[in-house]
Amino acid sequence: MKTSEIRQKYLDFFASKGHQIVSSSSLVPWEDPTLLFTNAGMNQFKDVFLGFDKRPYSRATTSQKCVRAGGKHNDLENVGYTARHHTFFEMLGNFSFGDYFKRDAIHYAWEFLTGKDWLALPKEKLMVTVYATDDEAFEIWNKEIGIPADKIVRIGDNKGAAYASDNFWTMGDTGPCGPCTEIFYDHGDHIWGGPPGSPEEDGDRFIEIWNNVFMQFNRDESGTLHPLPKPSVDTGMGLERISAVMQGVHANYEIDLFQALLKAAARETGIAFSMDEPSLKVIADHIRACSFLIADGVIPSNDGRGYVLRRIIRRAIRHGYKLGQKGLFFHKLVADLAAEMGDAYPELRMKQAEVEDALKQEEIKFAETLDKGMGLLESALKDGKALDGATVFKLYDTYGFPVDLTADIGRERGIEVDLAGFEVEMNAQRERARAASSFKMTGNVDYSGADTCFEGYSQHSTDARVLALYKDNQPVEYLNAGDEGIVVLDNTPFYAEGGGQIGDSGTISVTGGINALFDVTDTQKIQSAVFGHKGVLARGELKLGDSVTATIDLHTRLATARNHSATHLLHSALHHVLGNHVAQKGSLVTSERTRFDFSHGEAVSSEQIAEIERIVNRMVAHNAEVSATVMPYDDAMKAGATGLFGEKYGDEVRVLKMGEHSMELCGGTHVNRTGDIGFFKIVSEGGIAAGVRRIEAVTGEGAILWAQEQDALLKQAAVALKAQGTAEVVTKISALQSDLKALEKEMAKLKVKLAAAASAELADNAQTVAGVKLIATTLEGVDNAGLKETAEKLKDKLGSGIILLATTSEGKVSLVAAVTADLTGKLKAGELVNFVAQQVGGKGGGRPDFAQAGGTQVENLAQAVASVEGFVAGKL
Ligand code: ALA
Repeated sequence: MKTSEIRQKYLDFFASKGHQIVSSSSLVPWEDPTLLFTNAGMNQFKDVFLGFDKRPYSRATTSQKCVRAGGKHNDLENVGYTARHHTFFEMLGNFSFGDYFKRDAIHYAWEFLTGKDWLALPKEKLMVTVYATDDEAFEIWNKEIGIPADKIVRIGDNKGAAYASDNFWTMGDTGPCGPCTEIFYDHGDHIWGGPPGSPEEDGDRFIEIWNNVFMQFNRDESGTLHPLPKPSVDTGMGLERISAVMQGVHANYEIDLFQALLKAAARETGIAFSMDEPSLKVIADHIRACSFLIADGVIPSNDGRGYVLRRIIRRAIRHGYKLGQKGLFFHKLVADLAAEMGDAYPELRMKQAEVEDALKQEEIKFAETLDKGMGLLESALKDGKALDGATVFKLYDTYGFPVDLTADIGRERGIEVDLAGFEVEMNAQRERARAASSFKMTGNVDYSGADTCFEGYSQHSTDARVLALYKDNQPVEYLNAGDEGIVVLDNTPFYAEGGGQIGDSGTISVTGGINALFDVTDTQKIQSAVFGHKGVLARGELKLGDSVTATIDLHTRLATARNHSATHLLHSALHHVLGNHVAQKGSLVTSERTRFDFSHGEAVSSEQIAEIERIVNRMVAHNAEVSATVMPYDDAMKAGATGLFGEKYGDEVRVLKMGEHSMELCGGTHVNRTGDIGFFKIVSEGGIAAGVRRIEAVTGEGAILWAQEQDALLKQAAVALKAQGTAEVVTKISALQSDLKALEKEMAKLKVKLAAAASAELADNAQTVAGVKLIATTLEGVDNAGLKETAEKLKDKLGSGIILLATTSEGKVSLVAAVTADLTGKLKAGELVNFVAQQVGGKGGGRPDFAQAGGTQVENLAQAVASVEGFVAGKL
């Protein structure tokens, strides 16, 4: 049975059991600060398990793209060396949100695996584990399914802490979790290994194929488990593993899908195909992770998700290099992957060119340092001793070798790598990386009340009731004047930050009662449909249950709306001017400006910018109506609406239409007609990462302010240049530039003359040491070139003699030594310059008759120059 058939059968099976088939979510988790990459099927349902989000179905099934590299579940270093570790894999899963629980989950799993219409696996080849204290699961397996007790293994807390167990699954350090039951397949006694729980369990004979988690708790930051609103089910079966079982092979790399990729890897690295070559496996695995990550919008970079991606790419490139492929090859495998998996994941085909391009750029970049880094590494490894932390750091810092890549090479050669030493060297960089990868937390308060009703599309002020209050993120019954806190209302006109638009500010005042006033500085979602108004109580007292009037700052909101609407028009204009490959990569809309990031391979020229501005302003002048309609997601897609790829949308979406100019899925607040935008002006354009550009623009009053500032600047420049009006500014600058050039030439001539005069004086004042003329002195206000020139002149003037000249500038010492040819037998210029240089913390070199050096200890220079006489005397 082919891998693609197994994927389909699984979904069909659970659909026949009343499960909704849901598409895989993006590999980049949506608004989940606790997770680096999507690492399990349940991630997209995390809030549903926690009771924060509701879906129209209570049973779902998915085939989910997962990456386990970096973060809690990390398999990167094992990839290529074991039969079934991957960075990227597909997880088949079925989920119950407070619907069925242990009994049905176990029965479904068994039916799918052994039922004759489904996978029809021989029952005697399967065995199971349960959490040590889970008698209920044990009984179901034993009594209802009929698994003999000796084939049901109880696994307790075998990882060193309470609930740290192979049979207690946790999504991350926090989040939904619960005991689980796992199903194992026995690959046969020709393979070494023992059943789970036995000393030989790490062998490859008994392989876990399916994990059924009974979601019961939410683990908080302190490790405490809180019961979930409803017991639920989350299961995960690795598609590659079950395919290996179904195709009668032992290692995942032997399945149909991987065979094609391994052959492609052999072709592109120019070696003969072999199943025993770990490097081919690494490459075949990594092309999947890298392509899917890039297709989901991750860009190689030096921190966060982008750095994990870069590490995987570089590891693949290094394995190609090891096979003798020193040219660019990795990006050529994208086409093979798209052919193999493009039916199930159309994004691979849609984004093929973009993925190839990003990988190729990374290959070019790493090629610059890989060879040199390998040279350094080879010589460091030669003596067979452990590789020291400083070298590991140098490889990392100078040659771009991620530390796990270096460790990988060490492991291949059986050489220990001093990772602790590396950590010490790395500390500063780590701090930086950590700061850069920290995500914004929004949901850190406990709330279990009603959702917030958002009235802000049509109202800027509403009457509301206080449902919850927080101070220092703890629930309180009232806030006092001066307290900072969060207010939750039953309904609100305040927009909570989302979709790139910042949260509203404004006021919440107590209606009719004591004169209480809460200044809202920001609005953030504390759950997917609960808004937290953040701010400070300016006066009075605010209590739970108070009737209030919530009013947004309309001026700010309207400015934000203008910028948001202009962003949609900009997006559309970018498609007209740059092409349809332009995809939104991020945006930030505030009342001051809009910032829009998008994929595009090169800088946007000033002509293109001007064209984009013209198009947007034409759309503004057209004064088209802006309308929002809520409709089913599928209808919106059919109508041709643009959505953010990989973004999580509900089944019903809000479609924002701006005349014929733009149609996008958007929950933000907008102008009524495009004419409200007033005027649109791009104020900056630049690159922020490989293949990603950023445009910043202003509208309305902001644009007028910007134009006034530019105008004022130009006028100031005209005044400073004594120009007759601003039109003359450029001519004036050109004239000044040519004047400056003429002066520079003049100055150079004068310097030569001065140097000649100075050297004549110096020559006249030369000392005589043991019959030889010596000049050792410091010159003021000369640059390096002047110093050299003076030394050459002095040589000519003296005819025979020794010269040491020094000068200082910006805390640095420059030294020049010259020795006439007749004397170099006794003293070489290099010796002399180094004698002085080492006294000022430097080093130098050059020819026997002429040498230069630098130093840093200006304070020692006088003494050093004075010591020359004695040194020279000793040589003659
Ligand atoms: N979420 C569970 C796992 O990843 C099913 O193993």
